[in-house]
Amino acid sequence: MSKILITGSLGQIGSELANALCERYGTSNVVVSDVRAKTVDDQISDCECAVLDVTDVTQIAELVKKHNIKIIYHLAALLSAVAEAKPQTAWNVNMNGLYNVLEVAREFACAVFTPSSIGAFGLSTPHDKTPQDTIQRPNTMYGVTKVAGELLCDYYYKRFGVDTRGLRYPGIISYKTLPGGGTTDYAVEIYYEAIKKKKYTCFLKPGTYLDMMYMPDAINAVINLMEADQKKLIHRNAFNVTAMSIDPEKLAGSIRKQIPDFSIDYKIDPVRQGIADSWPNSMDDSAAREEWGWQPKYNLEKMTEDMLTQLRKKLA
Ligand code: NAD
Ligand code: SER
Repeated sequence: MSKILITGSLGQIGSELANALCERYGTSNVVVSDVRAKTVDDQISDCECAVLDVTDVTQIAELVKKHNIKIIYHLAALLSAVAEAKPQTAWNVNMNGLYNVLEVAREFACAVFTPSSIGAFGLSTPHDKTPQDTIQRPNTMYGVTKVAGELLCDYYYKRFGVDTRGLRYPGIISYKTLPGGGTTDYAVEIYYEAIKKKKYTCFLKPGTYLDMMYMPDAINAVINLMEADQKKLIHRNAFNVTAMSIDPEKLAGSIRKQIPDFSIDYKIDPVRQGIADSWPNSMDDSAAREEWGWQPKYNLEKMTEDMLTQLRKKLA
């Protein structure tokens, strides 16, 4: 079994991916890492855990060499809202971090998974059923780093033969680890507030449709892509994947089916609204379905039922 390194493992996706990979491949085959040290609040499997700053190429190379790593799941990044607040840091972490990981992967013959995002699209992209191959002119620092990252991964595959793969994730909804400062975070916060206060003040307008996905589908997607036969992968670094296209009203409606007196009101954050308005309403993910059998299991109703059940236990 090839040994795995995860960067940014203590974040929303990394914390759940770490546990899923430990369960699938064994804790002795997984090394988790993050720029901050693990605390008792991080519910990560009992595998090797390192402090690793991806902006330091030497640290990455030493860790890869020490553990004979052959697959890197590179999740360390700043999300859209944080990246807009700190564009210089976002460029450094998102771009230089990825470049460092790819250089180490080239040197030590590792495969690399890197998530892209709906943020890789912009205002001039077709917003409905956004095609797999289309115009990508994002106007956010997050989007700029995501498009450049897709291209850089393509380059490392074509030029150096590094087995790079990636997904354009939509907003990811989950109950274990809180999201790290994105535009789609409302779709997680709303569930917490529904249980705690039966009301939520949303920072995006009603009618703001965005693609979303429940965490178990997001984890299955990355595992299935990384295990796919690489001869079948045409769009290897940037597969559109989605499970649902929803706006705050639709999400509130699904919560109201279980909490009838739940209410939503709005206080718009112009920065995050601007970012959301530049992103697709819905993506066409047929390339992922055709090339490696992508198929989500959770729709809005099923996700809401599970989120509320799990959060009631967590917040009890
Ligand atoms: P997150 O913000 O929850 O976690 C990111 C982690 O990276 C954090 O634990 C942070 O401490 C760590 N980190 C930050 N700077 C670092 C550095 N210099 N070195 C090492 N680690 C560092 O993010 P996430 O939601 O888990 O996202 C993971 C990846 O998935 C990112 O590339 C993100 O763009 C992408 N993605 C996420 C979503 C989503 O909705 N969560 C959607 C699309 C794409
Ligand atoms: N959920 C992410 C964000 O809002 C999308 O990439 O930043």
